[in-house]
Amino acid sequence: MSEAFSLGILVGSLRKESWCRKVARALIGLQPPSLRSAIIEIGDLPLYNEDLEQQVPAAWTRFREEISRVDAFLVVTPEYNRSVPGCLKNALDVGSRPAGKNLFAGRATGVASVTPYKLGAFGANHAVRQSMVFLDMPVMQQPELYVGEIADLLDERGALKKEGTQKLFRTFMEKLATWIAVAGRGSAARSFQAFMQRRASVGEAYVNGDAQPLLEIVTREDPVTFLSPRGDTVTGAGAVAARFAKDAGAFQRGGQNRTEVLQSAASGDVAWWTGYQIAEARLDGKEAPVAMRLRVTEAFRFGADGWKLVHRHAEPAKSTSGE
Ligand code: FNR
Repeated sequence: MSEAFSLGILVGSLRKESWCRKVARALIGLQPPSLRSAIIEIGDLPLYNEDLEQQVPAAWTRFREEISRVDAFLVVTPEYNRSVPGCLKNALDVGSRPAGKNLFAGRATGVASVTPYKLGAFGANHAVRQSMVFLDMPVMQQPELYVGEIADLLDERGALKKEGTQKLFRTFMEKLATWIAVAGRGSAARSFQAFMQRRASVGEAYVNGDAQPLLEIVTREDPVTFLSPRGDTVTGAGAVAARFAKDAGAFQRGGQNRTEVLQSAASGDVAWWTGYQIAEARLDGKEAPVAMRLRVTEAFRFGADGWKLVHRHAEPAKSTSGE
């Protein structure tokens, strides 16, 4: 999905059989479609020493490039002596320097802590948050994820054994996706711009009689409203989807559609655009293509599976310039 957020996962353990790495993989397996995740390796980073900035180690450069490319972070960490393992703290130090080039700033972040024991590595979870305050990383507050007694939760292949844990992990990743849209600096706007490219191709499919791409971006949760070009109002997710499907049935293949955006904005988990949809449509029973100009305003909400249409207002326009 073009509007997916990229999530860089930092695992605070270098052990081959690390529980944290297994938990990270389980979380990736339960992520919503709006996230694309990959573990960013930290095991080869030389210990931070400011002198090395004169001739930056290749591993630092590789790490800095990788973290600069992601929209957001997830830290999955064990607890060492009630605090953050050195390898993870070192990775945060490397990515935060040289001075003035803190690559973590403004990137939304989630924290999960893991232990074979009972207390859920609470100390590490909160110690890493202390650094994140200084690094200016907006950290998701709820839900928290303290994973205790991990050996009981995973089978020998690393799969989660209990439905309750699967649900917890899935919810955590869904909430993180929403948090990234809400709190990540510029993320919502960036991802909405990418989404609007998809929106244009959805319109093209629609005037060719294919409602499916539009139905995929319409929310299934109420409230949903459609103020139609015929002047009537359709309310409710089911009714709006049914109406879109029915209306698309009037179009035949061979139509063209262009979207002209006058204004658009995205903030947090809400976005909108207003402008024109200008189509040359082939209607059932008519030989010549019909020119259609609609003045359109649409509103979207960001959820676990990306931007979803919650409102559409479309009315006939005589011309694109408002004459
Ligand atoms: C630990 N461990 C540990 N566990 C815990 O819950 N609280 C703690 O304070 C500590 N302290 C600690 C210090 C050091 C130096 C080590 C090596 C280990 C145990 C730790 O949770 C266990 O080794 C986990 O398996 C580590 O996570 P990974 O490597 O399995 O991901």
